Amino acid sequence: MTEPLIRADDLHKTFPGTGRKEARVPILRGISLGVHPGEMVSIVGPSGSGKSTLLYCLSGLEPYDSGAVRLAGRGLGKLGRGRLAALRREHVGFVFQSYNLIPSLTARENIALPARLARRGASRAAIDQTLAEVGLTGRGRHRPGQLSGGQQQRVAIARVLAMRPDIVFADEPTGSLDTSTGTDVLRLLRASAGEGRSVVVVTHDLEAAALADRVLVLRDGLIHSELRHPRPEQVLEAITYAGAAA
Ligand SMILES: Nc1ncnc2c1ncn2[C@@H]1O[C@H](COP(=O)(O)OP(=O)(O)OP(=O)(O)O)[C@@H](O)[C@H]1O
Ligand SMILES: [Mg+2]
Repeated sequence: MTEPLIRADDLHKTFPGTGRKEARVPILRGISLGVHPGEMVSIVGPSGSGKSTLLYCLSGLEPYDSGAVRLAGRGLGKLGRGRLAALRREHVGFVFQSYNLIPSLTARENIALPARLARRGASRAAIDQTLAEVGLTGRGRHRPGQLSGGQQQRVAIARVLAMRPDIVFADEPTGSLDTSTGTDVLRLLRASAGEGRSVVVVTHDLEAAALADRVLVLRDGLIHSELRHPRPEQVLEAITYAGAAA
């Protein structure tokens, strides 16, 4: 099998305790996983189980205490800030629950922005193609305030896809959307996985989670179970069990 695009080995992370003398609080307690090119993996689990923290550590947005992360063949542990940023720019796209679009820019301008900032530029045709990919042909001149939540999230995804990343991370990308709009957005992420691009998504939506090739159930900073091509009921059962056992 090919080398994973993302690999974590025995990842640990703590956060400072609240009081000054308080012990540090363990958040990730030994996570090992691999995500292969073209694969879509979803991460589910109770609130506070460490899903967002895991995503940030895997994508190089947050440092970790011990263990190792390899992303596109490079170990993150020894990279300085500049090199880490460059690696992220080259390989990683991140979709947030809150879209993070710039309100004064049109959809097209929002989509083109990261490429401009990276001094790569994005051609008109490339932006048209990306707009079409996310089903927003004809909406390119709208500003975020003139778009629905689902459409705004599509623009945010288009902005990520326009950079042609190898890995897309998404933290609750459907958290602000109703269920059916959310499932559409997840289908879009599903469609963007493949041909070497991997997608890792944290979600509370069981239907959405079940679109992935694999579902990892997190509990208390550990991978509690792993399901391959599960039905939504199986995801629910695994989460309920993870929660009940906590
Ligand atoms: N910057 C931080 N400083 C201290 N503690 C933090 C910090 N970020 C997260 N935590 C703690 O780490 C734990 C895991 O948080 P995380 O955000 O990863 O959970 P989550 O699984 O994404 O939860 P949710 O489903 O609610 O988004 C929580 O107990 C949280 O309070
Ligand atoms: Mg979270």
